[in-house]
Parts: sequence; C-alpha cells; structure tokens
Amino acid sequence: MNLPFSKHVLICTGPRCGGERNSARVRQEFRKEFVRQSLPASVKETQCICFGLCTYGPNVIIYPDGVVYSAVKPQDVAEIVREHLIRGRVIQRLLFKKRETPTPPSEEPSPGGESDPGSSSCGR
Ligand code: FES
Repeated sequence: MNLPFSKHVLICTGPRCGGERNSARVRQEFRKEFVRQSLPASVKETQCICFGLCTYGPNVIIYPDGVVYSAVKPQDVAEIVREHLIRGRVIQRLLFKKRETPTPPSEEPSPGGESDPGSSSCGR
C-alpha cells in the first residue's frame, strides 16, 4: 500500500449521512480536533459522497486500518481522534455492525445508497 498519509479519515457527507443526519458537523469536529490534539500533517480527512452503508450513518472509514465507524456523532469525534488516530485503539462501541434483522421496506435506502455499494465516490 502506498497511502501518502499515516491515517486517512473518510467522512460520508452523502444524502443520508449528510442531509438527514448532518455529518457536516462530524467533519467540522474532526477538523477542530486535528488542531486541538495537534495531529501531524500526515493525518488527512476527506469528505465522501456515499459508502453504501446509508442506514448506519453517519459513517466514517479510517485507512489504512480499514475500520468503519457508524452512527458517529460530533461528540464522538474527540474520542476517535484521541483513541484511534493517536493511540491506535479501535473504539468497539462505534464499530459498524451489520444488523441481524433485515431493514423494513420503509427504511430502504434511497437510490444511490446502500443498494449500490460499488458506486461510492469521494470529493472535496
Ligand atoms: S449517504 Fe452515507 S453511506 Fe450512503
């Protein structure tokens, strides 16, 4: 792997994570915590348009670790930065876990969401 960053935090700001659950605030908190906790410039955050995990959002993926955090709230961000990005400890309570029971039809993802996980995209 030739990732140019020591850690890369991808924050979904797609229609469900962003529009319905305001993940823009999660991204703002990451930016603030990077400064507050003096993270090195080798740690980068990028907003993404959809990971195809919409019903679990707001979702955050950390590379190169391949860790997915779900239902992330702004108040969780300081802990993610301190524990995961600085100390290298995965936060179990925030880990993505696929639901055991199928999602009821009324909660099916919108087009471009979970039904097509291969079409995710990132951008600034
Ligand atoms: S909108 Fe965030 S995973 Fe689809």
